[in-house]
Amino acid sequence: MNLILMGLPGAGKGTQAEKIKDKYNIPHISTGDMFRLSIKEGTDLGKKAQEYMDRGDLVPDEVTIGIVKERLSKDDCKNGFLLDGFPRTIAQAEALQQLLSDLGESIDYVLHVDVPEEKLVERLTGRRICPTCGTAYHIEFNPPKVEGICDKDGSQLIQRDDDKAETVKRRLAVNIEQTKPLLDFYQEKGYLVTVNGNQEIDNVFEDIQKKLVK
Ligand code: AP5
Ligand code: ZN
Repeated sequence: MNLILMGLPGAGKGTQAEKIKDKYNIPHISTGDMFRLSIKEGTDLGKKAQEYMDRGDLVPDEVTIGIVKERLSKDDCKNGFLLDGFPRTIAQAEALQQLLSDLGESIDYVLHVDVPEEKLVERLTGRRICPTCGTAYHIEFNPPKVEGICDKDGSQLIQRDDDKAETVKRRLAVNIEQTKPLLDFYQEKGYLVTVNGNQEIDNVFEDIQKKLVK
């Protein structure tokens, strides 16, 4: 299954992606995770991406399209993939259409996780992530068993740099502006399915599974 996961920052894309990839056995391709890894490793790509991410802006299309192109051409994507956080602009969506058609592939579903804007600030500012395995927790809505410690590997949880209050506002504004035209783009093509992301994490996943029937 070839899936795209869409939603504003904090909608729960990463949280649901973890469940979807296990259930449907497809690789989880998150452009945000790829950029964060490059920043950690200090690569040229990381240096380029960091200044945009720190401001809450989008990384330029040509950079982002390049890394997705490379990733989707790998063998593990032959039996499906889950794109998370890409595309985010119409230019990226058009580049993806071209790329998939070159690969002889097409999109099955664009899954939109819909959460009211006013809920997102508290989700983002309360998020804590594991620097080792990447799992996202929330201090109130999805806390680890022991405060501040990853359930899976015992690492000390940290806050993402772009989850600080000032950056969160800018990220939301940028993404709200970009998202609507993209939803229209995929609605017109008949790929769009929407789930209510404003409910318990497991209930969101239940709804997703009901929508992903082939
Ligand atoms: P990216 O990493 O993609 O971040 P994002 O879209 O801002 O999304 P998040 O990871 O913040 O949120 P999420 O929806 O995954 O939510 P999560 O599951 O963690 O992008 C970061 C940056 O990289 C961008 O700003 C940009 O600069 C750059 N970038 C990436 N892709 C790009 C592209 N294509 N083009 C250009 N630039 C790009 O959940 C959030 C919190 O809520 C967690 O604490 C979680 O525990 C909690 N939560 C989850 N579900 C629920 C629920 N149902 N109820 C209550 N709490 C919940
Ligand atoms: Zn961990």
